[in-house]
Amino acid sequence: MTIRDMQNEILRLKKQNDILILAHSYQRREVVEVADFTGDSYALACRVANSAQKNVLMCGVRFMAETINILSPEKHVFLANENAGCPMAEQLETEELAALKARYPHAAVAAYINTTAALKTMADVCVTSSSAVKILSQIPEKEILFVPDINLGQFVEKSLPEKKFYFAHGGCPTHLRAGERDVEEARRVHPNALLLAHPECRPCVSAAADYVGSTSGIMDYAKNSVEKEFIIGTDNSIVEHLQYECPEKRFYPLSKDFECHNMRLTTLFDVYAACLGERSELVLDEKIRLAAKRSIDRMIALGG
Ligand code: 13P
Ligand code: SF4
Repeated sequence: MTIRDMQNEILRLKKQNDILILAHSYQRREVVEVADFTGDSYALACRVANSAQKNVLMCGVRFMAETINILSPEKHVFLANENAGCPMAEQLETEELAALKARYPHAAVAAYINTTAALKTMADVCVTSSSAVKILSQIPEKEILFVPDINLGQFVEKSLPEKKFYFAHGGCPTHLRAGERDVEEARRVHPNALLLAHPECRPCVSAAADYVGSTSGIMDYAKNSVEKEFIIGTDNSIVEHLQYECPEKRFYPLSKDFECHNMRLTTLFDVYAACLGERSELVLDEKIRLAAKRSIDRMIALGG
């Protein structure tokens, strides 16, 4: 089979088997091409609500499929590659969060959506990179315990000086790979390019960027800008997608090491095999699902 043959077969199977295919923006190009919807983690969480299909295939990492199960238990949810997890989501244990909550008893717990369902049960609200400032500006608590990504947390803190933030020391191992030297080198080689960065980047990268936003935010910014050259400070899949979507512009990686191994696990073949029914349904324990739902519902209520 060629890539095109397999894509055609997936398009046929997803109709035949009533499957909605969702792909995170970091997915491979050939996977994005067969998806019904591609977006950032906030958009993916909201997308299923009005969909007609009874099966949902998530091409992304585990917490994204869990979020769909939390919000839409009537759907059958499948993760295209069952080994694809987000290392950051596993960084904080529930016992550690319990200890942090005891240390900061007046703080609202804001959990990045990149967390396990078990951790979400202990949060007051979930946030994503595109929605965190909007959501946290509306909660009444003056103190916020932001977990687990300290880089995103500190980025949000800058926009909300009226709040007092406390942090856990987690972060994305992919985004940690780029630093000040990468910024200097990329600026030297591409002096006319704007630097667009994800808020999971180190503070020195975010501070040097011309724009900081979610994966969808970065893509929208580049597409709508009158500028012609961009250095992309996030997973290099975004460089490739943008290059296809805007062939008249030029996109450069901030670092050649910007590869999320977990996002890259999902292949077109995984999507094909999942469409043939070769994946197990993801179903959370009902108690955990309901307890985790409170913080996700609040995210959507405040995030719009
Ligand atoms: P987005 O919210 O931008 O999709 O980010 C999710 C993620 O895992 C980035 O590393
Ligand atoms: Fe997790 Fe980082 Fe990969 Fe995003 S890029 S899924 S935060 S490891």
